[in-house]
Amino acid sequence: MIDSPYEHHDYDVLIIGAGGAGLRAAIEAKQRGLKVGIITKSLLGKAHTVMAEGGIAAAMGNVYEEDNWMVHFRDTMRGGKYLNNYRMAELHAKESPERVWDLEQWGALFDRTKNGKILQRDFGGHRFARLAHVGDRTGLELIRTLQQKVVSMDTDVFMECKVLKLVHDADGRMAGCVAYWRATGEFVTFAAKAVIVATGGVGKSWKFTSNSWEGTGDGHAMALWAGAKLIDMECIQFHPTGMVWPLSVRGLLVTEGVRGDGGVLRNSEGQRFMFNYVADMFRAETADSEEEADKWYDDHTAGRRPPELLPRDEVARAINTEVKAGRGTPHGGVYLDIASRRSAEFIRRRLPSMYHQFMELAGVDITRESMEIGPTCHYIMGGIQVEADTAATVVPGLFAAGEAAGGMHGANRLGGNSLSDLVVFGRRAGMGAADYVQAGDTATSFDLGEVEAAVRDALAPFERATGENPYTIQHDLQELMQTKVGIIRNGPELEEAKGQLDEFVERVKNIAVKGGRAYNPGWNLTTDLPAMLTVSRSTAIAASLRRESRGGHTREDFPQADPAFAKFNFALSSEGGNWDSPMVAVESALLALPEDLKALLEEAK
Ligand code: FUM
Repeated sequence: MIDSPYEHHDYDVLIIGAGGAGLRAAIEAKQRGLKVGIITKSLLGKAHTVMAEGGIAAAMGNVYEEDNWMVHFRDTMRGGKYLNNYRMAELHAKESPERVWDLEQWGALFDRTKNGKILQRDFGGHRFARLAHVGDRTGLELIRTLQQKVVSMDTDVFMECKVLKLVHDADGRMAGCVAYWRATGEFVTFAAKAVIVATGGVGKSWKFTSNSWEGTGDGHAMALWAGAKLIDMECIQFHPTGMVWPLSVRGLLVTEGVRGDGGVLRNSEGQRFMFNYVADMFRAETADSEEEADKWYDDHTAGRRPPELLPRDEVARAINTEVKAGRGTPHGGVYLDIASRRSAEFIRRRLPSMYHQFMELAGVDITRESMEIGPTCHYIMGGIQVEADTAATVVPGLFAAGEAAGGMHGANRLGGNSLSDLVVFGRRAGMGAADYVQAGDTATSFDLGEVEAAVRDALAPFERATGENPYTIQHDLQELMQTKVGIIRNGPELEEAKGQLDEFVERVKNIAVKGGRAYNPGWNLTTDLPAMLTVSRSTAIAASLRRESRGGHTREDFPQADPAFAKFNFALSSEGGNWDSPMVAVESALLALPEDLKALLEEAK
């Protein structure tokens, strides 16, 4: 019995985050007969999962029979520039078809082939048309399906509940968390035998992002403070196609499905510039003329892929270079053209959300005009280091899945591999947590000292009569991360960024908040800033250490990949466990590939 001074709840498995990974984990733990609670600081049904619009990658072979898990594994490892945890990539490639079929059984309505199978579309870096999809609203359908299943299983969901800190027992095992209700500002504690972090990404630390307000890296940061390690934090994905205009929606995602369905990129001179940016590792399989590229849509087994379907890191860098060279659009992007290549009926049927998004927000009819697009911070490959099969972290009782976990995608994620990651590893986290709980060696106490420290920190800004405005700090942080820890980096700027981030820590300690605690957005942001700073600092530290370019980490002072850096991840830990504690980075060796998988990769080189 826990003698919490606040409202209190007890669970076997507590899941923080209600996106695809959290919901899938809940289903699995519930099916094992456990008492499961889900906490979300947002609303059920609203998660960054919906921003994976174009599809879920799974080698089902419905469109090309030649496809199988081995090709998917190879594509994923190559896309990740071989920094991946191979075991995660292997499990993901093998299990994603079954996870798609789960979704279908639970009611997801995928688009169909003529003979009634689940239809699969093209995406960058995938050898075959592999993305099961629902028009360009796949993430939404996935969330809708999982949410319905979770609700039907009578699972407790706590909405608009912001977790501040994870809580241990006296022996360092995970014991639960402390949170507050956004509606009232009242504190609440949750005790649990196992905790799964599934809080998604970190994009809100950058100025232009596809993430909405929730993407503040809470789970990454809380796990680090609790003793877990973060890996690959330097590897940030700038999705090549975000809206650049109007400014109020800059960064909003334009699905890769546009290119998958035949859309091409042109600069202000009308040139299809991607042909000029094919890296050596992709040259053999990439078309070198428009004619050849276009033929590929008819028969993938005969031709070579269009360069617009190179992995995202390659395409984003190319767009950046074109804009810098003065060949950009009036609003600083490039053109994405599907209007001249597909019929209006095709575009409206396959890309209904894109049609509406551009019509409503920019007054652009994409069946007649090109879109203006540019890179947007979309996803972090880095995250909490986990054991592949169980999703366990090094903290007993703490598990992580989805974007909050690292390793699966290496240095760069292929589009569509996120939704499949969520359901493959969400399920595995649910299983891992259930096994841990049922083995019985779980927390025996609940450290109320940790609770009180978190509550004191959260309330401190109300006690300062004057101080910094949290919105000014957020603005300055986003500006700094965009300009100095953005898509192209260099050593001197990263050093400056690290220094400035240390100053931000002091600024956050000086925030003053006015008003009450009920629905106070200034206070809510203040409680997000420690996590935003932790992830920003970890990205800057890891980016300064990785003196090479690889995937979603580009150094103009070290433009090539260096094989010496392909052997390990940088793993960060917190020295002190508080949000302002120093962090240390060590080299964490990659898992050695077994011979059979090594042979698969060699074949593809
Ligand atoms: O472009 C997209 O539809 C995004 C998909 C993803 O991030 O996996």
